[in-house]
Amino acid sequence: MLKSKIHISQNGELLAKSFTEHFVSLANDAISKRGRFLAVLSGGGTPLMAYRLLSKPPLLEVVPWGQVHLFWGDERHVPHEDPQSNFGQAREALLDHVNIPDENIHSIPTDPSPGEAALAYAQTLRSIAEANQSSVRFDLVMLGLGSDGHTASLFPGQSALWKDPIIVTEGSYQGRPATRLTMTPLVFNQARKIIFLVSGEAKADALANALGETRDVDRFPSQAIDPTNGKVLWMVDSAAAKMIP
Ligand code: 6PG
Repeated sequence: MLKSKIHISQNGELLAKSFTEHFVSLANDAISKRGRFLAVLSGGGTPLMAYRLLSKPPLLEVVPWGQVHLFWGDERHVPHEDPQSNFGQAREALLDHVNIPDENIHSIPTDPSPGEAALAYAQTLRSIAEANQSSVRFDLVMLGLGSDGHTASLFPGQSALWKDPIIVTEGSYQGRPATRLTMTPLVFNQARKIIFLVSGEAKADALANALGETRDVDRFPSQAIDPTNGKVLWMVDSAAAKMIP
């Protein structure tokens, strides 16, 4: 029995708008309850429209950016200035336009070697956990879905590697940088809310598999996202939803 909820928008624009509404409401709720909003952003092209909406009025003014802390679920091991950097893309579409303090932006470092960067980011995650918790509970984790079924940088056939909170991995996908750092389900599954954002017909097959009855995390990595005490929402557009069982 599927624990996730699915929200279908008519097109990519409405999907982005709907995502931003969730972002604002989750941010305000977390800040009123715990004084801060801990959000994990995703890479890829799909979230960029939502980032741009958040970076402009009216949304720009309704998010209390001073209490928002941003993290990345995965990163390509390229300099942050590289156009393929997930952080770099978010900086251009969102961070450069909002009043978020620098110390609230927790990008995955890519200057050190991948192994050193993974250790450093694991330490960042430990340092942000609440005093009474052994590991961080994110208020929101945003994830994408590749047409090959990967999410973050959790690629098919690699589930045996997901043993530490942050790992280095290699993933070949659409010519994008292959050496990656990624959070694993050990971190994602502690989150309070996980939102997958999926747009376009090219994702229809992967989405149907992700939500289908055949459960196999090695073939369909997004199925490993199963929060212990949180909720999953799939926000998709009608083109991506075409083949949902
Ligand atoms: C990345 C990602 C990745 C992404 C999917 C979908 O760094 O590439 O975080 O998991 O979300 O590949 O990418 P698109 O949105 O570009 O289709």
